[in-house]
Amino acid sequence: MITAGIDVGSLSTDAVLLRDGEVLAYSIVNTGAQARAAAERAFEEVLEKAGISLSEVDTVVATGYGRMSVPFADGQVTEISCHGRGSAFLNPEVRTVIDIGGQDSKVIRLDGQGNVIDFLMNDKCAAGTGRFLEVMADRLELSVAGLGNEDLKAERAAEISSMCTVFAESEVISLIARGVPRPEIVRGLHRSIAERTAGMANRLGVMPRVMMTGGVAKNPGVVRALSEKLGAEIVVPPEPQIVGALGAALIARKKRSGKA
Ligand SMILES: Nc1ncnc2c1ncn2[C@@H]1O[C@H](COP(=O)(O)OP(=O)(O)OP(=O)(O)O)[C@@H](O)[C@H]1O
Ligand SMILES: [Mg+2]
Repeated sequence: MITAGIDVGSLSTDAVLLRDGEVLAYSIVNTGAQARAAAERAFEEVLEKAGISLSEVDTVVATGYGRMSVPFADGQVTEISCHGRGSAFLNPEVRTVIDIGGQDSKVIRLDGQGNVIDFLMNDKCAAGTGRFLEVMADRLELSVAGLGNEDLKAERAAEISSMCTVFAESEVISLIARGVPRPEIVRGLHRSIAERTAGMANRLGVMPRVMMTGGVAKNPGVVRALSEKLGAEIVVPPEPQIVGALGAALIARKKRSGKA
């Protein structure tokens, strides 16, 4: 049986093809301004990578904020369930999932079977999301992918006291003006996002193992800062950005076969 999961996020649209519980291929494309076109592009790309034709796919499940814009999906499931299911598949010991995407962040508690027990979500404010890091990377003339390396060069972290993206950006501008080294500013920003995320995680309660998903998990500076703040080891899967789509493909498989 072949199933597909499509996660239409605010920044990236990710697709995973699964055959009998094994990942055949995945794709990650920019969502851009048209969610539906992004879903079609991601799906075409993943089919091509796997050398599979559309007619061979049994079931497609869509997730993410744009999940209603996937006309070829057989069903829609929330991101919370999909990140939970995907994380538990990758590591059955995971009990806490922290997903930081482009426009929101979530903390999810799982039972031993990958079912969601409880969750908390921040989708009201850019601080504590990938957007916060994008704004700051831009201001510092770095790419988001370069932030982790820059953090490694720091000897200390600059103090960033504001929790608001707009005011934190003003702080970054004055730190630059005062000649504070860029790596220290980056580490300060990573601490700030970690503090916000840890606050939310501690409100929900953190149980080991902890897994981090979403694009921001590709930033080792954030992962380290968050691990320090939580006092817990954080597992990052090889491709954290596709965990939601993976969960959707697993749920599609269960829908079709009735088996987990
Ligand atoms: N190579 C990378 N290195 C570091 N950070 C990255 C990298 N690629 C993406 N990111 C970060 O990941 C974020 C996007 O994450 P992701 O693709 O999971 O978001 P999304 O699922 O589209 O958004 P949401 O779930 O909020 O709708 C970007 O804002 C950026 O900060
Ligand atoms: Mg997402």
